[in-house]
Amino acid sequence: MTSYNLLILPGDGIGPEVAGEVEKLVAWFSNRGTVRFEVEKDLVGGAAYDASGLPITDETMQRALSADAVLFGAVGGPKWDGVAYDVRPEAGLLRLRKDLGLFANLRPAICYPALAEASALKREYVDGLNLVIVRELTGGVYFGEPKEVVTLENGEKRAVDTQIYTTHEIERIARVAFELARRRQGRVASAEKRNVMKTGVLWHQVVSEVHKDYPDVALEHILADNCGMQLVRNPKQFDVIVTDNLFGDLLSDVAAMLTGSLGMLPSASLGAEDLVTGKRRALYEPVHGSAPDIAGQGLANPLAMIGSFAMALRYSFGLVQEADLVEKAVANVLAAGVRTKDIAAPGAPTVGTAEVGDAVIRELDALT
Ligand code: NAI
Ligand code: MG
Repeated sequence: MTSYNLLILPGDGIGPEVAGEVEKLVAWFSNRGTVRFEVEKDLVGGAAYDASGLPITDETMQRALSADAVLFGAVGGPKWDGVAYDVRPEAGLLRLRKDLGLFANLRPAICYPALAEASALKREYVDGLNLVIVRELTGGVYFGEPKEVVTLENGEKRAVDTQIYTTHEIERIARVAFELARRRQGRVASAEKRNVMKTGVLWHQVVSEVHKDYPDVALEHILADNCGMQLVRNPKQFDVIVTDNLFGDLLSDVAAMLTGSLGMLPSASLGAEDLVTGKRRALYEPVHGSAPDIAGQGLANPLAMIGSFAMALRYSFGLVQEADLVEKAVANVLAAGVRTKDIAAPGAPTVGTAEVGDAVIRELDALT
């Protein structure tokens, strides 16, 4: 039986609470005996800082580099406000992203029918929505040089940011999008602005070229501003949207509002394939932070973390049926009215973090 190596880095704040619910799921799969996970757990963020004075140690980094997938909780909070900038908890996540070479950020927008009322849009536009935005994460205008503010001879100031993309950068993100689409509904929309940007012209050209290797996937080119409009007008037309760092930042926040609460949003960041093993480096994490305001009280919604685990099953381990099963269990739990406070209607009954995890486990039992 194949065994999958999963490194869990719960972090601090609500991180350990939501990670604990994923451990229940890991144990459930292991007990069934069809999939085996080798789970390691380690410290990151404030928890690591308190133990070692560093937000992530070299040993932990080594573990992350050799894991099949890293599951990351959350880090940061007022407790560490006074620590030096380069050892603050968030620096642990930044090092992970950098050293794992995570260039592709996947943000799904899944609207569970039971939560459609929480969307910024009317139910009919979002009920059953299931799209994923693939955002290029390490290039583009956030990193291009020159990047500066200069004072001109006449005393005026001039600010410059530079958008740069190479063929290689576009090609590898396009491949991620096409591979994902193959495991989903087989459709990619590539968003750029080739009408006014040279990087858009190259983006369009390279994505079209890569598409030749994926004749089974349908490709549509869409101008990024129109893509924003279409996300609000008719989001269910999309399966996979691939776009650059800047447009992806904006479009993924728009997509987030289509689905409701921060406590529901998972994400994945993928890196290069290891040349020896062929495995792709990957880190899965909820979009939310460490929520210091509710940490330690058992109130956090664990579904963003559980959704991140489902993404690891699907994209790192190729366990598509198991991922579907987890997502179905979550949908059923929500349909049954189980709600943490963040997703409950005012005055409706609520449960805590552990009750949600237990309800997901009961639903997994019922479904199998
Ligand atoms: P946050 O996402 O931690 O919290 C924002 C609001 O949403 C809070 O009211 C919180 O209670 C609520 N919330 C978040 N996740 C929830 C969940 N699973 N269930 C129920 N309610 C939830 O963002 P905030 O307050 O801006 O940042 C708090 C700390 O987290 C900061 O130190 C920040 O730097 C850090 N942070 C860490 C991230 C990471 O580890 N990837 C990402 C974002 C922020
Ligand atoms: Mg943002």
